[in-house]
This record gives sequence, structure tokens and C-alpha cells, in this order.
Amino acid sequence: MFDLVVYCGFAFLALSCYTLGRYFHDRRQLRRFPSFSVSGITPLWLMYHSWRGKRFAAVDKAHEALGPVVRIAPNHVSFSDPSAYKDIYGHGSPILKDDFYAHIAAGNPSMAQTTSKADHARKRKNLAHIFSAKEITAMEPRVMGIVQKLCRDIKIKSEGRMIAPTDFHQVKDGSFDLRPWLNMFSYDAITAMFWSNTYAFLDKGNDICPSYDSSGADQAKPDLFSNLPYRPTEKRPVPMPVHEIVAECTTMMDAGNDTTQTSLTNCMYQLAANPAKQTKLRNQLLATLPEKEHQPIAHYAELQKAPYLRACLDESFRCKPPVAFGLPRRTVGNGAMIAGHFIPADVTVSCPLYSLHRNPSLFEDPLAFLPERWLPDDEDYAPSDEERQNLKILLSAVQPRREGMYWPQSGVHGTEYCDCGAGGGV
Ligand code: HEM
Repeated sequence: MFDLVVYCGFAFLALSCYTLGRYFHDRRQLRRFPSFSVSGITPLWLMYHSWRGKRFAAVDKAHEALGPVVRIAPNHVSFSDPSAYKDIYGHGSPILKDDFYAHIAAGNPSMAQTTSKADHARKRKNLAHIFSAKEITAMEPRVMGIVQKLCRDIKIKSEGRMIAPTDFHQVKDGSFDLRPWLNMFSYDAITAMFWSNTYAFLDKGNDICPSYDSSGADQAKPDLFSNLPYRPTEKRPVPMPVHEIVAECTTMMDAGNDTTQTSLTNCMYQLAANPAKQTKLRNQLLATLPEKEHQPIAHYAELQKAPYLRACLDESFRCKPPVAFGLPRRTVGNGAMIAGHFIPADVTVSCPLYSLHRNPSLFEDPLAFLPERWLPDDEDYAPSDEERQNLKILLSAVQPRREGMYWPQSGVHGTEYCDCGAGGGV
């Protein structure tokens, strides 16, 4: 026992000496940037807040206290200066995706996870066509079918009833949590689009599913993934290897679901918390989609005629970005200039949307949910010229060629169009 205590003591001492030695040696000259608490010495500060699910808020607090450039881990510098966004994620930026992505990929990176630009471009060639407007539009009837089920379920739950005996979401005192239903919706919609068969969570009222299907039956209908080059064809003589197909499937499940569910939940929350905006949206939808056949579920083309709906979504993305923490990138080669600071190679850098979107120098009354700020001529609110310009920059920075986007209009990117691969902007 005594030996163990001595060994642990030595290990602790050695680790402390190494950590402090690294901090004072300061090979990459990052001590010039302020650290929050012990964040400059150890990654434990950032790890702790990530574990709590509050990393975005902790980093925002650090920026509020220490300014626009903060060392949030020994080798990670966070920027809240708007100009840093373009320097880090902008098109043509030499900065790459951080090793963080390689770690989550566990040796089998998908397009979204690869840290090599060349590999990203190669993988993207296999995937780009499945996100074409034509392919996505072909999936609209499937998504509309799932929306119908969501509306049905919400109606049943608001009446205090159960969807099925397997529905384990309780209605208490006449109210229920909408989030699990939006979660089940996004899983059903994505599986319908990508894998032909939906999980049918909305029919069961729960999100339990078998991990595999032993029937071995062929897929019934063509889906987005049936367009992947899994066999050699004349056009694509080199098919995608199975491990790459598995990696892309896993990423789509992750990237498509949590993000969509979070975005929908946030938007519903904002509308519930702002009843006047909710009424305004409802009235506009009723006026724009008067015919019975477009109610309650309208085609995307019809919904485009309701600009206030778009504005509510954009404003919800601004107030509560679904991916709120700063996406980590890594400087390479000769380093990079970020917001006027030289950052040497091999340093992790990020610029969190959460902090950018609540910057009062960019947006007036930034904490308020004001969809009107996105509309050029709304009678309830007129953004200043400066704010108008910032909103425009925000859109062009995050949604290049936005006008052609179909799905998911995330406020962050459209997969087909954004050049948000290894090191690109999002
Ligand atoms: C509102 C919903 C969504 C939001 C907020 C969102 C957000 C994001 C963000 C922030 C990134 C960049 C990630 C990074 O650089 O680490 C990204 C990339 C990506 N997302 Fe989405 N996403 C949404 C919906 C979807 C959907 C529905 C799919 C497909 C099923 C999808 C597939 C992808 C893919 C494949 C990438 C990687 C793109 C590339 O590397 O070129 N996303 N998304």
C-alpha cells in the first residue's frame, strides 16, 4: 500500500512538473493570450465544461471576462472577434480540421471527419450528387409523410392520449415534452430518405430499435444511399469500399439527426416563449397557404412564399445555434494570421457561433428573438444599415449560394453547396 502511494505521488509530481514545464517553456508563445482559470495549464477546464454540456457557455463567459482572444486549453486559442470567423473557416483558409475529428473517427473517417483536404475532396466526389436538388426533391413525399405522422402524434399527445402501448412519454398535467417527438421525427425522416425504411419511432412512441435486421431482405425502394457508388460502373470504375460506406452512414445518422432535432426544438421554444411572434407566423402561414391541400403540410416550394417562416428559423439559429461551440481547426505549415494575431503551426483554434451571435456590435439587442431583423421591409422592425450588412455577411459566410438550398437550410450550411470540408468554412 505504501509503495502504491509513493508511486502515485511520483507520477503526480512528474505530471505536474511536465505540465508546468510545458507552460513556462511556451514553445508556441501562447502565454501572450489570457487564460481562464487553469485553462492555459491543463485541458481539464475545457474537459470539465464539455462533460457538463456547457462548453459554449463557459467559453463565452471567458471571452466576456478576458476579451476576444482567450487560451481555453494549453494548445487551444478561442476567438470571439468576428473577423476571426472568416480567417479560420473561410473559403481558401489554409487552416485544417483539428485532430479532434480524427479521434472521433476512430481510424475510419467519413467525409465530415477527415482532416486531409485531398481525402475530403475525394470522398466528396462520391457523395455530392446524392445531395443534388433533384435527389433531395425526390425525397419530399417521404418527408411529408413523416411530418404528417408528427402532426398526428402531437395532436394525440395534446389530447392526453398514448400513440401506442409502446409510447412511454407521459403527459403530465396536460403538458408533454416536445423534444423527444422532434427527435423521433428527425430519425424517421432521415432513415426514410437515406435507408428506405424508417425506424417508425413515431408509430411506436419510443426510440428503441433493433441494432440489426436479420432478415437480409433487399431494400424495397431506391433511397439516397442507393446512389452511392458501391459497385464499379462505367462512370465510376472505382467503387467506395464498404468501410467508407459505413463511415458515411454513421456520420449522416449523427450529423443529420441531433442537429435537425435541436434546431426544431430551439425554434419551437422561441415561438412558445414569444407568443406575439408565434401568432404573426401563424397568420402569415394561413394567409400564404390558403388552400386546403397545402394545410397543414405544404410543399417546400409553397413554404418559400412565407418569408416570416424563414426569418423565424434564421433568427432561431442566431439566438440558439444548434452547434454552439467553436468547431476546432488546426493551424499548419507556416502558421496563420487570425484576427490580426499570428498563430504558429499546430495550434488548435476556434470561433464559437454562440459568442459571435450575441455580440452587440453585430446585432442590436442580440438576446432578443426578433425574426423581423432578417426581413428587408417589415413594419415592426427596421435593422440599422450596419446590422443589415452584418446579417448579410452572416448569411453569405454560413450559407454560400443559399438560394439553391433545399435541405436542411440549417443556418450553418447546406451540404451540397458549402465548402465546409477539411478546413473549409461552415
Ligand atoms: C439544422 C440541421 C443541421 C445543422 C445545424 C448542421 C450543422 C453542421 C455543421 C456545423 C457542420 C460542420 C461540422 C464541422 O465542421 O465540424 C456540418 C457538416 C456536415 N453536415 Fe450538417 N447540419 C444539419 C443537418 C444535416 C443533415 C440533415 C445532414 C445529412 C443527413 C448533414 C450532413 C452533414 C455532412 C455530411 C457534413 C460534412 C460536410 C463536409 O465535410 O463537406 N447535416 N453540419
